[in-house]
Formats: sequence, C-alpha cells, structure tokens
Amino acid sequence: MVNVGVMGTGYVGLVHGAVLSSYGFRVTCMDVDEHKIERLNQGFSPIYEPGLEELLQSGIRKGTLTFTTNAQQVVQSSDVLFIAVGTPAKEDGSADLTYVWEVVQQIGKYINGNKVIVSKSTMPVGTSRNIEGYLGNMLKGTPYQAHVASNPEFLRQGKAVSDSLSPSRVVIGADSEEAVQMLKTVYATHLEQDVPFLFTNLETSEMIKYASNSFLAVKISFINELALLSEKVGARIQDIATGMGMDDRISPHFLQAGPGYGGSCFPKDTQAIVDVGRKNGEELYVVRAAIAANEKQKSKMVSKIEEAISFDGTLKGKTIAIWGLTFKPDTDDIRYAPSYDIIQGLLGKGAAVKVYCPQGMKQAARDWPELSGRIQYCGNEAECAQQADAIVLMTEWEQFRGVSWERMARSMRRNVFFDMRNMFAGDIAIRNWFQYYPVGSMEHG
Ligand code: UGA
Repeated sequence: MVNVGVMGTGYVGLVHGAVLSSYGFRVTCMDVDEHKIERLNQGFSPIYEPGLEELLQSGIRKGTLTFTTNAQQVVQSSDVLFIAVGTPAKEDGSADLTYVWEVVQQIGKYINGNKVIVSKSTMPVGTSRNIEGYLGNMLKGTPYQAHVASNPEFLRQGKAVSDSLSPSRVVIGADSEEAVQMLKTVYATHLEQDVPFLFTNLETSEMIKYASNSFLAVKISFINELALLSEKVGARIQDIATGMGMDDRISPHFLQAGPGYGGSCFPKDTQAIVDVGRKNGEELYVVRAAIAANEKQKSKMVSKIEEAISFDGTLKGKTIAIWGLTFKPDTDDIRYAPSYDIIQGLLGKGAAVKVYCPQGMKQAARDWPELSGRIQYCGNEAECAQQADAIVLMTEWEQFRGVSWERMARSMRRNVFFDMRNMFAGDIAIRNWFQYYPVGSMEHG
C-alpha cells in the first residue's frame, strides 16, 4: 500500500488528502499551523466546503487520515509527497513561492529513500524543474532519488469534493517512469472511471493550469464587456450567451455576466502568467485585457448603482444592502471578492452599507479590518434590507430564492434591486415589488 503525504492543508491539500484517504490510501497531511492541525485531528474542517467534513471524519475514524505539524514524520513515512501549499500573488503580480521552497527544503533535509514529489499547487512554469534540480543536488552522494512530477488541481471551490472525486481530467507532467507509475497507482480509481489522462512534461503541465484559468477569466471578461455594451444598445446578455453557447466550439459555460470574477485563483493566476510572459519577453495582451476589463467591471457596477439611485445627485444619505460577500456561493471564501471593491466604491461615494452573507461574514470581519465600523453586519436578508434604499445581490446563494419580495419591499425606504448575478432575471414576481436591474440588459422595471 502506498503511503501518501500532503504538505499544506489549504483547499487543495485538504480536499486532496481527504479524497485519497477515502480510496484507502494511508494519508498524512502536514501544516505549520498547530491550531488548525489540532482541530483537523478532531474532525473539524477549517473551511466550509460541502461534503468535506464528513470525508475528514470518515478518514479519521478509519485511521486512513492523520494530520501533523511534523515535517520529518510526513517526509519519512510517505512514498509520494504532494506539495499543496499556497502560492499567493506578490505586489508585482508574480507568484510568491516562499512556502513551496520551505517545504522543498524540508523534503531535502529529511528524505530517507526514493520518493515521488508532486507539485500540486499552482506553480509558475519552471518551478517543478527547479525543485528537481534542487533535490537532485541535495541527494548527491546518497543512494536516494527524488522523482518530481507536476499534477495541477482543477477543482472549484464550493464543489471541491465532487470535483476531486470525478475530475474533468488528470494532467501529469513527469519525465520519469517512477513518477508516472506512482501517480497511476494513486489515481487508479480515476483510470478505472475513464477520466481523461494527459501525460506530458513538467513545463507543459504547469502551463496547462495557468492557461486553463486564464482562458476562463478571458471568457468571463469578454462576456462582461459585452454585457456593458448590451445595456447601452438594448440587447440581452443572457440570450447572447445562449446563442453563442449553441456553437460547440464556444460552449455555453463561463459566459455568465456578473460583477467581475474573484476568488483566490483567477485574479492571482492571470497576473502570474502575465508576469511569466514578461520575464520571458512575451507580453500576454489578451490576459492583460481580461484583468483590466475585470477591474473596469467592478467600477462600472458602482457607477450603475450611483446613477440609478442618486435621484438627488448623490449617494450620500442612501443606505445600500449588500446580499452576499463571498466570491461565489457555497464557500466562505471572500478573497478578491468583487463585493469588497463594490462596498469600498459605495462607501467612497458616501453611501451607508449594510451587509449579509450566509457564510462570508466571519471572514469579512476578520480579513477586512479597514471596513470595521464602516459597514453594518446583519443577521439575515430581511434585517439587511430594512430601511435601505436598494439591495445589491453580489453572490447567487440559493437561499435568496426563499425570501418574500413583498416583505423585503415593505420594510425598505426605496425598492430598487441590483441583481449582479442575473439570479432573478426570469422572475416576474420581483418586478412587482422592485425596480429591478439585471446585468447586461436594459429591462429594468
Ligand atoms: C477556478 C477554476 O474554475 C477551477 O477549475 C480551478 O481549479 C480553480 O480556479 C483553482 O485554480 O484552484 P474557483 O476559483 O473555485 O475555480 O471558482 P469559479 O467557479 O471558477 O469562479 C471564479 C469566479 O468567476 C467567481 O467569482 C465566479 O462568480 C466568476 N464567474 C464564473 C463569473 O462571473 N461568470 C461565470 O460564467 C463563471
């Protein structure tokens, strides 16, 4: 039986470790955060992700999943080690590889046999090759070998467990037969399920991850720009997306106009690939445009709110209720959420802001200290809407479908609803009570 080590218990590491343990592998996950490890060993997930806590608890119960802060123990007890630490963006947009190198150094220090080392984190092209070189040097004069592979993760937050259990594809970049064989063993279930596999070299595998995320970001920015234009010319963006998506070569996915993409992946990865391009003398104009369009989208949304409700020429004295803080539903993640920019924009123009989010409020109170005292956190949708001049729906949480429009409208000062996700675009009822503004069409009323 293969022993698996996972370095880093963020979204990727934790879900990956839990899923592999459910396949019967003995998995040890390592993190430097002692408190987090203690809670994990008790079966508590540090993140909100459907199905994850159950999987963790089942692994712990069966004894196939353990958590530790001891790097030496993980390195020495594992046949394959997945590096799944964060690679956040630096000020200049490049990926910060500090945590990756800390882990690689520990692997080099404690390695006690032949191991397969897998880059699971999103790493700029060339990183896995550098890891291979570094470990090769460290192991000179020893009988041990470190076989390096790149195996990017494509899971989506909010669907992390189901995406991991049935991925769209498994990409493996490796030069050695040892690494390929090890990963075929680890992913035997996916091979049996006929999940598509792509075997390639380290650099290509790393690029596939950035290329995929950047392409999706480009798609979103493209449709968002057309949404702005549609509002001016009387077209309907949802029908445009449907019409475009009928062509298999385009596909209808990721053509949902909105307030701009957010999250820990697209904003960071688009910047990182532009940075890699620059360092290699190649300007990535298309990705740069997608980043710029995303920034534009957020500020256009603020202007749209301002224009619609500043009947006396100003947002001062207006109260705006924000529904949803997370960058998407079914997660508690607020990193790079467009809600942040829109709240800041509205506050900057003098509006008072109340917020409610089913999952993101604890995180917002902790991670957005600059907003503390400037926004009012509310216990539910109704409390948030009370005495407000407008509701701005930022995240398409399913529970918003359950609210009574009449009740909301009656408690408000003015009845204006900005639906940044077109969640209620097909809903006649909301229009009975609200002046309704979708994204990408003029049909408010
Ligand atoms: C993204 C990718 O979809 C995953 O394949 C990838 O593994 C992951 O990044 C990663 O690199 O770890 P994620 O960030 O969880 O996943 O979220 P998405 O569902 O892709 O959404 C990203 C943002 O785009 C959200 O703010 C979402 O609201 C927005 N979006 C998405 C739109 O505005 N319109 C769309 O049509 C789709």
